[in-house]
Amino acid sequence: MSSYQELSTRLAAAGQSQLLRFWSQLTAAQQEHLTAQLDAIDFDEMQRLIADYVLQKPRTAIPGDLGPAPYFPLTPRDAAQVELYARAEAEGERLLRAGKVSCLTVAGGQGTRLGFDGPKGTYPIAPVSGKSLFQYFAESIIRAGEKYGTRFTWYIMTSLLNREATERFFVEHHYFGLEPEQVVFFTQGTMPAIGYDGKLLLAAPDSLSLSPDGHGGTLLALRKSGALARMAREGVEILSYFQVDNPLVPVVNPRFIGLHALEHSQMSAIMLDKTGPFEKLGNFCLSGGRLQIIEYSDLPAELAESRNPDGSLRFIAGSPAIHLLSRSFVESLTAGGSLKLPWHRADKKVPYLDEAGKLVTPEAPNAVKLESFIFDALPLAERTMVMEGEREKMFAPTKNPTGVDSVESCRAMLLARDAAWLEAAGVKIPRTADGRPAAEIEISPRLAIDAADVAAAVKRLGAPVVRAGERLVFHG
Ligand code: UD1
Repeated sequence: MSSYQELSTRLAAAGQSQLLRFWSQLTAAQQEHLTAQLDAIDFDEMQRLIADYVLQKPRTAIPGDLGPAPYFPLTPRDAAQVELYARAEAEGERLLRAGKVSCLTVAGGQGTRLGFDGPKGTYPIAPVSGKSLFQYFAESIIRAGEKYGTRFTWYIMTSLLNREATERFFVEHHYFGLEPEQVVFFTQGTMPAIGYDGKLLLAAPDSLSLSPDGHGGTLLALRKSGALARMAREGVEILSYFQVDNPLVPVVNPRFIGLHALEHSQMSAIMLDKTGPFEKLGNFCLSGGRLQIIEYSDLPAELAESRNPDGSLRFIAGSPAIHLLSRSFVESLTAGGSLKLPWHRADKKVPYLDEAGKLVTPEAPNAVKLESFIFDALPLAERTMVMEGEREKMFAPTKNPTGVDSVESCRAMLLARDAAWLEAAGVKIPRTADGRPAAEIEISPRLAIDAADVAAAVKRLGAPVVRAGERLVFHG
């Protein structure tokens, strides 16, 4: 741990002496706290980041050869692809049964955009029961384990801010039926908030203003936390990655996993047809033969709107943030304990201590937060694979309280999918004039995670009677 003298010299050289402004008023423990935070920062690197990302607004470089990325379509194109998909499904199932797959959820975000005070995963999402996002995933993982005769380990990445609240939520709910050792929490790294003048901000006399370093931090955090080592010990080869805001996602997907393996892919992704040129999804692109995702906010409008001769969008492939990562790929990326992904700038309102030590809550953005994105690892892979998914079965993100990608739309999609599964199993679902289910129904993922499960449950338990206006949860 550095001495005051060492810190003072280092910070003066970096133009950041303001961080020691309250030093003489701190207790020994507080001085230690601040020193630990400052020692964790490489100030040479920080000066470079400030020059590149804060004092100027970086523009994401759009390569001249940028084109749309190829993908495996949902409906096989020809007989060879029919055969390939059948082999992929068998291979995926084999890998699942052999315990070669674990689940990984990035849950570092708060529910702020939902107007919810707590880790986003604790949000009560299920349309009838009000189960939380975490419970919904946990029960899906238990059912998937039963289905494939194994017990999946679930890696959950939290941020420093929500780690404790997240763990407490799991303990209070007895891990929703999972064995405690099936759930592995790990914490992502942090980055200091940087004022527009290039100065790092203090949140308290003894603390920098730190925020999560983006889900790109997942990769290094997997190594640092020992998660990669545990996967190796348990013989796990593939991580099934999904975001905490999307309860419709299949927690494991045999065809996707099988294609990933058969294609010798190191990192794979699901794509969906975008609903329009500016849907808020990352865009699958190809440049120099490498796959990359360009965030919706970075793709120039003329490219987003460009069309093929038949009128379809050229950049039609959007990312629902559903990936597979090979353990060996994450190991090689993070070998040596470091990983350089590009940074992305976000302008934020960040509360800070002023010179007098008073906490100021700004009304306009005053600082930059830097985040890295996990999908920036795609161009670092020698081999990648993209597979088309079905929106109605995979993607219902919960980003806003109402409107597009909202709690409302997510609940409606969960309900529509469950109704379709029940109908396919021969259950009569009353519908409104415009075709929506006229009852509020929910299938517990503990009972069923796909159409085959629902058909089996209906056969075993008999077809339930569903009346218009009813609210029902099928538990089995
Ligand atoms: C994200 C993707 C976008 C994709 C869309 C699909 C990014 C930058 N963009 O958009 O390409 O099409 O989802 O829904 O991710 N998280 C952490 N730690 C962090 C930051 C985020 O764990 O430091 C987690 C969140 O808890 C969440 C996920 O990452 O599960 C995505 O974050 P969010 O801010 O919701 O990304 P979007 O902009 O919605």
